[in-house]
Amino acid sequence: METLFPFGFPTPTAFYLTLYVLTFVLHQALMHYVLAGSGYLAWCNLVPGDGETPRTAQPLAKILRDWMPFALSAAITAGVAPLLFVQIVYPTEFYTANLLLWWRWMIVIPVLIVVFYLLYLVKTRRYSEWSFLARTSIAVFVSACFLFVGFCWTANHLISMHPDKWPGIYETGRTELSNMEVLLRMLIWTGGAFPTMCLMAAWQLPPSSTDSQIRLEEWRLARAALGGLFLATLAGIVYLVRLDDLSRGLILGSLGGPYLGITILGLLVQGGLWFLILQRGGRPVYRVILSGGCTLALVGASVLRETIRLAHLDLEKLASHHEQAADIGGWLVFLVMAVVNVAVIGVCVVMVRRGLASQE
Ligand code: HEM
Repeated sequence: METLFPFGFPTPTAFYLTLYVLTFVLHQALMHYVLAGSGYLAWCNLVPGDGETPRTAQPLAKILRDWMPFALSAAITAGVAPLLFVQIVYPTEFYTANLLLWWRWMIVIPVLIVVFYLLYLVKTRRYSEWSFLARTSIAVFVSACFLFVGFCWTANHLISMHPDKWPGIYETGRTELSNMEVLLRMLIWTGGAFPTMCLMAAWQLPPSSTDSQIRLEEWRLARAALGGLFLATLAGIVYLVRLDDLSRGLILGSLGGPYLGITILGLLVQGGLWFLILQRGGRPVYRVILSGGCTLALVGASVLRETIRLAHLDLEKLASHHEQAADIGGWLVFLVMAVVNVAVIGVCVVMVRRGLASQE
């Protein structure tokens, strides 16, 4: 493990690892929108502000509320691909963690179903007429549910990395994880979710920076993004310092080092740009540069996350399993289904566009 990720592994292992990380990046970006977006909506309900129009009725909150059900379905769909690849790369570890998590794992899908319908409810006019208590309770509940789902994925990931803890977890039924490690990972995820969500929301805002309301929303986005970046970076540094020597060595060495560099560069670009937006307001070109910075940070962080797992699990033992999986084939079926699905999605987009055009 002295070579840059993923080149030091046999070809089938490197192939599945690469697909896993790339598809995970997509899930991560969409999950960030949902996690941070629901947090922002909960905050807007809790602190509506003392202006004429409450924060919940201002453009940013409206956009997030409108897009949240779609974003959730996109985050879930984008979770399927890494879910498939993680099962190929680490089959025993992943399934064992699922079983050991027991009800905390089984409850994830029911929780997501409930939240999905609540997100539609939140978009209705009837919801906006309910009392402060009812609206706020629902918004906070939705946000807490996403945090819980994130916690379940973190717990599953950590359990899968610690086979030495499996007998103890089986006997006691408790996750036996270090609270500090879980907390730090959750802080990295939730903090890191804000810059990604703010960037996506910035693309969704109307481009006119002369409109004072839009400038206010950009300023809010910049503050939230900078706060999230600060939190995630701080938690990330503490996490790195507390890591075991082997994991830290791989992150700082030739396997993960360049990805650490990419992550830092992505964070600096985002921090600098959001600071500029906070000071001088947004410009369309900023969004483009921010997107580049955000992509670098997401890819870099995903590889670093994988580097820690590689320090705990012996992938060489699994190489023959990856080779077998690569021999199974199925490319033709995959390509046919991909073409059919892209065509179906295309038809849906055309139908929605026509529907919207006929309403205008
Ligand atoms: C919107 C609700 C969801 C949230 C907030 C969420 C959050 C997360 C978080 C925080 C992680 C990283 C955990 C860590 O490294 O500490 C993660 C990983 C992951 N999530 Fe999601 N997730 C959601 C839904 C889903 C769904 C429905 C799927 C599957 C269809 C999924 C698939 C995955 C996969 C495959 C991983 C990587 C697991 C691993 O490498 O061990 N997620 N998710």
